[in-house]
This record gives sequence, C-alpha cells and structure tokens, in this order.
Amino acid sequence: MDKFVVRGGNPLLGTIKVSGAKNSALPCMAAAILTEDELILENIPQVQDIETERKLLSSMGAEVELGYGRAQHRTHIKCSLLSDPIAKYEIVKTMRASSLVLGPLIARTGMARVAMPGGCAIGGRPIDLHIRGLEAMGATITQDHGYLEARSPNHGNGRLRGAHILFDKITVTGTEDLLMAAVLAEGETVFENCAREPEVTDLAALLAAMGARIEGAGTSTIRVQGVERLHGARYRINPDRIEAGTFLIAGAITGGDLNVDGCEPKHLGAVISKLEQCGVKIDVSESSVRVRSGGELKASNISTEEYPGFPTDMQAQFMALATQTEGTTIVTENIFENRFMHVQELNRMGANISVSGRTATVTGRTRLQSAAVMCSDLRASASLVLAALVADGETILDRVYHLDRGYENFEDKLRGVGAQIRRMGEVFSKNRRATDPR
Ligand code: UD1
Repeated sequence: MDKFVVRGGNPLLGTIKVSGAKNSALPCMAAAILTEDELILENIPQVQDIETERKLLSSMGAEVELGYGRAQHRTHIKCSLLSDPIAKYEIVKTMRASSLVLGPLIARTGMARVAMPGGCAIGGRPIDLHIRGLEAMGATITQDHGYLEARSPNHGNGRLRGAHILFDKITVTGTEDLLMAAVLAEGETVFENCAREPEVTDLAALLAAMGARIEGAGTSTIRVQGVERLHGARYRINPDRIEAGTFLIAGAITGGDLNVDGCEPKHLGAVISKLEQCGVKIDVSESSVRVRSGGELKASNISTEEYPGFPTDMQAQFMALATQTEGTTIVTENIFENRFMHVQELNRMGANISVSGRTATVTGRTRLQSAAVMCSDLRASASLVLAALVADGETILDRVYHLDRGYENFEDKLRGVGAQIRRMGEVFSKNRRATDPR
C-alpha cells in the first residue's frame, strides 16, 4: 500500500493547475449508456474512480477507450450493445457512484441490475430516493441477493413515463440518476427540490448536446421533455471545484502565494468568501484564483450545505486550516453523519478538536507535529496532507489509495509549487483496487 511522506514548513509558491471534475466525469460517462452512438468526453481526470467507471461500463459490453497525456485526458465510449446490463458487486463496492448507471440502464435497455452499495465510512448513504423516483416513472423494483433489479413497464411501449418527482432531501447523484432516466421517458418529468451543484449542470449540458430537452438545470426545479432517442456528442468536463478549493487551502495554510489556475471561480464562492473571512487575501480572475496569506489567520465557523453553500467535500480540508487560525472554529456537518474521521488523526498531530454529534469544535492555533497517520476517506486524506504541510518534521500518511480515487497527481502537483512530499511503496497503478466506496 502506498504512503506519502510529507515534510512540513515550506510555503507553496507558484501556479498549480486544476484537473477536470471527477464528480462531473462520473455521471457524464454513465450518460454514454443512453445512446448507441459514440460519446467523446474531454478533460477527464486521471484518477482511480474513473478507471473503476471504465471497468463498470466495459463489463456491461461498452467499448471504452481512455487516453491521457497527449490524448488530452479524453475518453471515447460507445454503447452500441449492452449485452450485460448489470453493475456487479465487485465493482460497485469500490465506488458508490456506480448507482449512477441505474437510471440510464433502465431507460435504454428496460432493465437494470445493480448491486446495492454497502455502507461506507461517512454514513449510511441510502439510495431510496433514486428508487422512489424510478417507481414514480413506472419502473418495478425488486431486491434479491444484494442486488436491486429495475424493469420498465411491460405495458404500452415499455418506456418509462414522465412523472412529478419531489425529492424529500436534496441528493446530487439522485438528481443525476433520475435526470438520465427522464430524458428517454415518454412525456414530461418535473423534478422539484433538485440538487443545484455545478456537476448536475455539467451533466445536463452534456445531455442537451446529445439531444435531450431539459430546462432549469442548476435551479431546484428541472423540467424534462422525454425524447425517443439520443445521439452522440463531444463534451468538455468542467474543472474540479473541490480540487481547486483544496489547493486554495494549501496556499493559505502554508502562508504561501499560490495561483490556482484553470478553475471556475464562480463555483468556489462559498470557499472563497470563507477564506476571506479568515483573513486570507484572494484575487479572482476569469479562470484562476490567487491566494496569499502572510499574516495571522482568524477563526471563522463553517456549516456545510448543499450548493451554493459550503461544500461537505471541503469540510475536512477546512478543518486542517482551522487548526492554524486564532480562536475557536465551530464546524457543523449537515450533509453526512459520521464525516469526522479525520479529527482523530488531526488530534494525533497536535490539533485540539472535540466532536459532539454533527459539530466539531476546533481550538486554534495549535502547533502541529509530524506523526504516522491513516487516511480514512478521500477528503480526509487531503485534510491530513494539508496538516502535514505545516507540521514540524516528517509525517507519514498511510492508505493514500483513498486520495488516489479523486485527486490527479496530487503529490506531483504540490511538489511543483514547493511542497516536500513523496510517495513511498508500490507505484500508483491504474488498476489497483480501491476499497472506499465513495
Ligand atoms: C455526491 C458527491 C459527493 C458529495 C455529495 C454531497 C458524487 C459522485 N459524489 O454524493 O462527493 O459529498 O454529493 O455533496 O457526485 N440521501 C438519501 N437517500 C438517497 C440519496 C441520498 O437519504 O437516495 C442522503 C444522503 O445519505 C446524504 C444526503 O442525502 O445525507 C446527500 O447525499 P447525496 O447528495 O446523494 O450524495 P451523493 O450523491 O452520494
């Protein structure tokens, strides 16, 4: 298992480049199921979750080519035949977002068999809202042997039918999954209380390029007029706002001067305004954000919310910063229960954090010390790297496969702006198995 060795103390200086958004690329790749034609997606990040999705689509009979480097992080996917519309447990257990194939599979083939995702480190993460939505569109859902089987109506023309769906709770992949089911359904589907995340808007833009008729993506009400077929398209994935936010905190926590380039600043509003409240200097231009901090940082509370609120996927990284701000920071996690796995490890590095239910109280500023620490999930791993960048001495982070699921060349990018970080152990293999189902 790979480890990172990080020696703290260097301010990060220079320009760091942001990759394509993993959480946009995953639903966009699943959208290839909706057409027999070829889909070409650009700006795909080279991370383990994308490799898992490639395997998932290939296992169903899709032809998937994935090229990096000179091939510009591009994938060509052709689902002319989906001989085996099954998402097998061996694949689903390593990536919970595999449930994103449920909607497109049933819409395209009339049948889907998807292993039920297990629980995972950051809470139960049910998919009841996906199921309820598909049932409202006429699907029949049964469960057996740990699998969920969905079938489209066997009367009429066998297509799903439009429905009025009100999400009880805002769900990102739930909105995406049902959107993909609705684009090929008969008639109109109206979704209310939808997720407004930029990744939903990215997917909707791709679906529109494939011939779907969608209005309102990015707002809480989305209307879809179903069409009979979709065609191929070429589409460029948006930059990763969570990777960009992680780099902004890396610049701020190390007292550096870092230009985070190739990002979409308007997707980073909540993170930027929170950093400003902490006393970090931010300059925003069209596609980059420069972060500078030299002076003392002030504590500022955060409360995670759905977009455009402060993202839960930035909570762990912000907590690392909170250990370095003067005063008390209250961190409230509203989206997932049990998303404080990084706290124990940060405390082992000398942080002063206590947890009560959904709230963590960080008393800063504390001097962090190197330690041997364990990554527990994707964003917790990033938080520990950020802490290690300012800790005294050499921190060893174990289980960095969690981080490899969602950050492209993390250590190389950080090293390029002055961090002392290296990977130890086996070389990152694209085929290595990850075990954290996020
Ligand atoms: C997505 C992101 C993840 C991010 C999360 C919240 C991807 C691949 N992953 O995850 O990085 O942390 O959004 O921004 O895009 N819920 C239900 N029933 C459901 C579905 C969800 O109760 O059927 C609950 C969840 O348990 C959670 C909340 O709704 O409490 C939000 O979850 P959701 O938005 O669905 O997260 P994901 O889409 O899994």
